[in-house]
Amino acid sequence: MEMLIRRGFLWQSFEIYGGMAGFIDYGPLGNGLRRRLENLWREFFVINERAVEIDTPTVNVEEVFVASGHAESFTDVAIECQKCGKVFRADHYIKEKLNIEADCTIEAVKEIIETYDLKCDCGGSFGEPFHFNLMFTTSIGPGKGKKGYLRPETAQGIFIAFRRLLDYFRGKLPFGVAQIGRAYRNEISPRQGVIRLREFNQAELEYFVHPAEKTHPNFGRYENDVVWLVDKFDNEHRITLREAVERGIIAHELLAYFIGKTRRFLIKAGVREDRLRFRQHKDDERAHYAVDCWDAEALTSYGWIEIVGIADRTDYDLRKHMEHSGEDLRVFVQFKEPIRVKRLKIVPDLRKLGPKFRKKAKAVAEALERLEIDDPNVDKVRVTVDGEEVEIGREFFRVEEVEETIQGEKVIPHVIEPSFGLDRITYTILEHSFEKDTVDGEERRVLRLKRWMAPVQVAVLPLLSKGDFIEVAKEIVEMLRSAGIYTEYDDSGSIGRRYRRFDEIGTPFCVTVDHQTLEDGTVTIRDRDTTRQVRVSRDELVDVLKELLSTEKDITEFGEPFKL
Ligand code: GAP
Repeated sequence: MEMLIRRGFLWQSFEIYGGMAGFIDYGPLGNGLRRRLENLWREFFVINERAVEIDTPTVNVEEVFVASGHAESFTDVAIECQKCGKVFRADHYIKEKLNIEADCTIEAVKEIIETYDLKCDCGGSFGEPFHFNLMFTTSIGPGKGKKGYLRPETAQGIFIAFRRLLDYFRGKLPFGVAQIGRAYRNEISPRQGVIRLREFNQAELEYFVHPAEKTHPNFGRYENDVVWLVDKFDNEHRITLREAVERGIIAHELLAYFIGKTRRFLIKAGVREDRLRFRQHKDDERAHYAVDCWDAEALTSYGWIEIVGIADRTDYDLRKHMEHSGEDLRVFVQFKEPIRVKRLKIVPDLRKLGPKFRKKAKAVAEALERLEIDDPNVDKVRVTVDGEEVEIGREFFRVEEVEETIQGEKVIPHVIEPSFGLDRITYTILEHSFEKDTVDGEERRVLRLKRWMAPVQVAVLPLLSKGDFIEVAKEIVEMLRSAGIYTEYDDSGSIGRRYRRFDEIGTPFCVTVDHQTLEDGTVTIRDRDTTRQVRVSRDELVDVLKELLSTEKDITEFGEPFKL
């Protein structure tokens, strides 16, 4: 952390006013790294899928989260000290003080506090545990305004726009919709530094599929990858994804596909394979919307931390938004052959609905027509209109049996969601890349970032800080920057110290302008990891660097190695 702060990766937000837990600033290098992570994510999860990316507001109207269930269920159990007034997240406090994994229910927390006579650090007693909703509330517009929430996940913006998105994809499943952006959670006591934030960055893909077709045409790319799995019974497996699906450890191919793809993405971004596992949520741990969920977890100095959640959200969200908004969010799926079926149909009596429901009569009639029933003698039904459930008696409709040719059916798509926490992944990459080694008898700190992730890709260094050396070095900086290579120039301090500076921030290559450059137009390229150098001509420098930065090729493929 000392290095990250000093070098300009991460800073405490609001530092001059004493700071506030749960908020961080990205300095120039941290911001550069996170942007590269976002672009790599786009390559994997947007460009290489039948997917698009959208951008929706971070402030949402209340209705969104009433429908999604967050207003009621997105809570943690908190405990408040009666003496000093400090509030703690109950399960974290219990884990820290008693090393017990507590269920996140009021009853379980209460029982543990009583059994172990758990006290606050100040010696005070805790009051009744209570539910604390993690969403930040706000008010939209002047005066009392309209209640709104800051979004706790980017996903809801996608569900809300589903009808438009379906049109965009010409009504055909499957398709994916991605969103990268800020999410907000008013975490109760975020004491884990950069891991538990109140404002953070997510990259989410909502992949909409036919409920009976949870497969992916490209599963073959990952099916033989061996993954480290911890299932919901805490059994560990190191098996191929294909075997995990066949043995029912992973519920279906589509979840396995995204586990495989996530794993490859994280490794490519710089998460160490030997510190990466996928852990299945236990039955009492899953979010209110999920039937199965696997977290990618990385081992860091904070222990194993969740960096990605991959959930099967079924039709939960679309169904809820359909019920609350009254919009039809189903997708028409054509059968291979049309079929003849008999079915019961509700026929609303508009002459009676009109006087009773007035402006809502049409919406009630449509909701009635959508209902599926199997009892011809049903005496009342319930429909939801404008988020309100209404009971409709038999006098307002009749039931008819009809025989129809059906071309297809309307289904509510299911959603498989890989959801990435970009801040946690960025931090994990930094931790997994940071090493100390010995170079020329001295300890060296080096950030072994993947070359394509480094915020500063190349440093150009004149060997001597004078005249021609500086002039040529600056020409080379211009040339590399025009070629789209993120380049820094540095002429202060000894060449050895400058190399160390760039090693520490993870710059993969240093280009040095030395005496020979002035004679024959060649420069040296030094590799951060091996500290080997090769000499190349200025004319080929851009091509060589581009090749090196996009691959893991050894520098010696481009010239005779030497060490100064
Ligand atoms: N849409 C699903 C969803 O939001 P989640 O597991 O709650 O699922 C997804 O969050 C990812 O977002 C997590 O795996 C984690 O990396 C990140 N995340 C969640 N809460 C966070 C917090 N308070 N600070 C930083 N990252 C967080």
